[in-house]
Amino acid sequence: MAIVNVAPGAGAYVTDVNLGSLSESDVAIIRESLGNHGVLFFRDQSVTPEQHIAFALRFGEININRFFKPIADYPQIAEVRKEPEQGSNIGSNWHTDHSYDQIPALGSILVAQNLPASGGDTVFANMFAAYDALTTQMKSRLRGLYATHSSRHAFGSKAYEKSEHKELIGRLGNTELATQDAIHPVVIRHPISGKQGIYVNPDFTIHINEMAKSESDALLNELYEHCQRPEFSHRFEWKEGSVAFWDNRATWHKALNDYPGQRRLMHRITVEGVALCA
Ligand code: SIN
Repeated sequence: MAIVNVAPGAGAYVTDVNLGSLSESDVAIIRESLGNHGVLFFRDQSVTPEQHIAFALRFGEININRFFKPIADYPQIAEVRKEPEQGSNIGSNWHTDHSYDQIPALGSILVAQNLPASGGDTVFANMFAAYDALTTQMKSRLRGLYATHSSRHAFGSKAYEKSEHKELIGRLGNTELATQDAIHPVVIRHPISGKQGIYVNPDFTIHINEMAKSESDALLNELYEHCQRPEFSHRFEWKEGSVAFWDNRATWHKALNDYPGQRRLMHRITVEGVALCA
């Protein structure tokens, strides 16, 4: 197995590996590489639902996402689907999955099932690199700050009042379960690598607790603009047999919606994480 870093950018490609038959030492290398690189990309895999579940369980318990529709017979596997006649896709804005949970998920493992002939890439951004590139003044401004994250505006019933979001009903659901808010440090220390990274994101962070709304909005917007700098990101082109395993504590991601009239179907398993510390 070899780890080929994407630099500058986000992530690493793992080559010469079969996700269906990993040794204990392979799993240890994957865990450490995930902590260091934030997202790992695998090509030419052939992963059954059982193998997908078994792979995820090597890294932790499975978090059954309460908002996503599961695939038939496997409640552990969420469907990320867009049909040809549908306009909206899931996850099109920059986000970090599950930051609205008090113990946010470690990350997700996405396995390609049906891909459009072109388009449908996923872009990942490296929150360690984004933190490292902040000025000393900004780093000290962020020290000791906490932010509130919420699922209510994203998955609650009000979210589906917007016309472009309405179309996601059926693929996403359980609006009554969108009740949870969570507070996390704005800069976290990564549980595996010990690196510092920015932990606020445009989809789920609603405000910085120690600030008035206008100051919080201004600071969040400044951070969001910074985090989107192209040198922190990598655009992953999906191919048949591709798998991506990302760490939510180290990355943002967004799914590009540039394949009108075509189908895209992915299987996603989310792995439980730990409470986050500054
Ligand atoms: C997601 O945000 O979990 C979906 C990413 C993708 O479909 O590429």
